[in-house]
Amino acid sequence: MSTAALLAINLALTIIGAGLWCAATIIAAGPITATRARRALIFAGGAALATLAQLPLVLMLLGQGWWFAQEKLLFALPMQLTAAVVVTLIAAPPLLRQARALSVSSDAAEPGPPSRPAARGAALPAAATTRRLPARVPTALLAATSAAVASVVAGTLIGYPLELAAAAVLTLLAVLATGLGYALFARAGRRLVVGFSALGTLVLVASVALSWMTSMAPPDFAGAQAAHTGGHDSALAAAASPGIDADLAAGTAAAAVSVDDLRTPEDVPGPRRQFTLRAATESVTLASGDTVQSWNYGSLPGPELRVQQGDVVEVRLENVDVAAGVTIHWHGYDVPNGEDGVAGVTQDSVLPGEGFDYRFVADQPGSYWYHTHQSASRGVQRGLYGTLIVEPSGGIAEQHDVVVPLHSIGGSVLLGASDLPTATAIPAGETVRLRLMNTDGLPSTFHLDGTPFAVVAADGHELAAPPEVREQAIRIPAGGRIDLAFTMPDGPVYLTTDASRTAWLAFSPGAAASVGTTERPPDRSDEPELDLLGYGGGPAAVLPDGPLVRAEMVLDRNPRFLQGVPVNGYTVNGAVYPRIPSITVNEGDVVELTVANRGWETHPMHVHGHHVLVLSRNGVAASGAQSWLDTFDVRPGEVWVVAVVADNPGIWMDHCHNLDHAAEGMMMAMRYRGITTPYEHGGSHGNRSE
Ligand code: C2O
Ligand code: CU
Repeated sequence: MSTAALLAINLALTIIGAGLWCAATIIAAGPITATRARRALIFAGGAALATLAQLPLVLMLLGQGWWFAQEKLLFALPMQLTAAVVVTLIAAPPLLRQARALSVSSDAAEPGPPSRPAARGAALPAAATTRRLPARVPTALLAATSAAVASVVAGTLIGYPLELAAAAVLTLLAVLATGLGYALFARAGRRLVVGFSALGTLVLVASVALSWMTSMAPPDFAGAQAAHTGGHDSALAAAASPGIDADLAAGTAAAAVSVDDLRTPEDVPGPRRQFTLRAATESVTLASGDTVQSWNYGSLPGPELRVQQGDVVEVRLENVDVAAGVTIHWHGYDVPNGEDGVAGVTQDSVLPGEGFDYRFVADQPGSYWYHTHQSASRGVQRGLYGTLIVEPSGGIAEQHDVVVPLHSIGGSVLLGASDLPTATAIPAGETVRLRLMNTDGLPSTFHLDGTPFAVVAADGHELAAPPEVREQAIRIPAGGRIDLAFTMPDGPVYLTTDASRTAWLAFSPGAAASVGTTERPPDRSDEPELDLLGYGGGPAAVLPDGPLVRAEMVLDRNPRFLQGVPVNGYTVNGAVYPRIPSITVNEGDVVELTVANRGWETHPMHVHGHHVLVLSRNGVAASGAQSWLDTFDVRPGEVWVVAVVADNPGIWMDHCHNLDHAAEGMMMAMRYRGITTPYEHGGSHGNRSE
């Protein structure tokens, strides 16, 4: 069973348990009859079963990883099991006696208040009874209810990690709720009722207020999370010390370097390639005639920037009238940090009338894209994106080069620049490279129909020894790129995507370029997905021998305050941006990053400034061609272990490339010790990197 399914079943059992305990509590608190006593017993028995059934599930989850089991093993199960024992000792005997006594005969020797006769098997009318169980019975059941509710809260509201303080608050609240119940059941007087209610409210309000206040504190890129292994990394002992100031004071970095110092030198050698991108709002009429309100870099998509390996790329960004501000981030391109285009981290947002000059050496060939990193969730969606193609010196192996960014905007889906089919004539026997790019927030799936093909690159990096495949779907994470290559056959070839029914690419041999655009190509949505972890061959990667730093990102969805605003946040290690502690590294470190997804949604995790080498997924070591990615889909219940070689100093964002998720918290930084930034979230430029 998948981890996600185990998580879902375990949560369902906990909720069912809470519901059944609650039902039993309500019955036991009211006037009791044999039928009602029996019903309460059945509910309580069901709840106990639901509790016990969690045990094997939690053990299985533990087998999948500590992140999935922590709060269940340390908190939820002990709470619920203890409560079940309490119920068995305190509530079960009186309920059993009641069920038996009232149903067997009216004159059974049952101690306690008198009861009205009951016919065997017949339900008593409610009016026929006035009898009540002692208060400890519903109280014990209420304790079990509270324990189950606290367990649900621990798993869904608090998540991972469940810290001692949170566990203590939850336990206290459960105890207070039980106390309040007792005060009511036992009619113990108003003072007790008021006392328990007031205390419970106080604890609740205080903890909510505290987390609200914490969320309002200044952004914290500086808090560090890093654990290290091996004996050779004593220099990293300060890794756990939060705060750049602390790092600097400890002398772990020689001197502070600003992100502004991490720019490409003006006199860097190489042929210049200059571009100007003007960001503006524009109402664009698509091929279909539909009109979309867009923000773009001069066209939709932005101009294709095509350069040669070794070129010095100089891009002038001007903002005509995008009021929200704009930047350019070179997605997947490992530029110097100061060229990374993240508003509030590496530069200020470029406001209307302002400009910014980017410069970087195009030393890595491959398929990349660029997009705004100011209010990115809005800006990219509306069209502030374009493609960046770096041709290898010597050119690509294929004769035709087709760039296909997929983008959804205003209810339309663009394949390339069109929301309608496009046809290209390619003589049979000639080779084609298709650069598929997903600039959307959700994974997209492509199908290439009519020819075998090979996957020749992923995220800009060539894959070694790619075998030919056919009738296999290509799934691309949000932000990712996959290059396919095929030889044009005698018949037509179709590129389709599950994201659109109206846009596809048709390739026809010979001159009949309009072939294939009128009739929709066959639906291939049932094709099996090609798994790239195991695809291809070539030598295994050898990582440099730097100090090993371990870091983890546990992804989830929990209610949080995002800078004071309550959201159902997308969390990393239980926190939302900008309060997720950074991963702190030194140049030369090798970071082993574990990413586990406790939630129900796929998170395309993206690392700026570096490519990650995939080491394993769900405990299975990556095989096939070396997989150097900048964006990888962590699906529900998955655990990825990747290596990042810390060779590009700076403050780098790591985030979910479902940009809506990033905007709701799933964004953090990997920062090198000793690097500082003069830019800030908000401020006079209204910087909003997410
Ligand atoms: Cu493509 Cu931080 O983004
Ligand atoms: Cu996400």
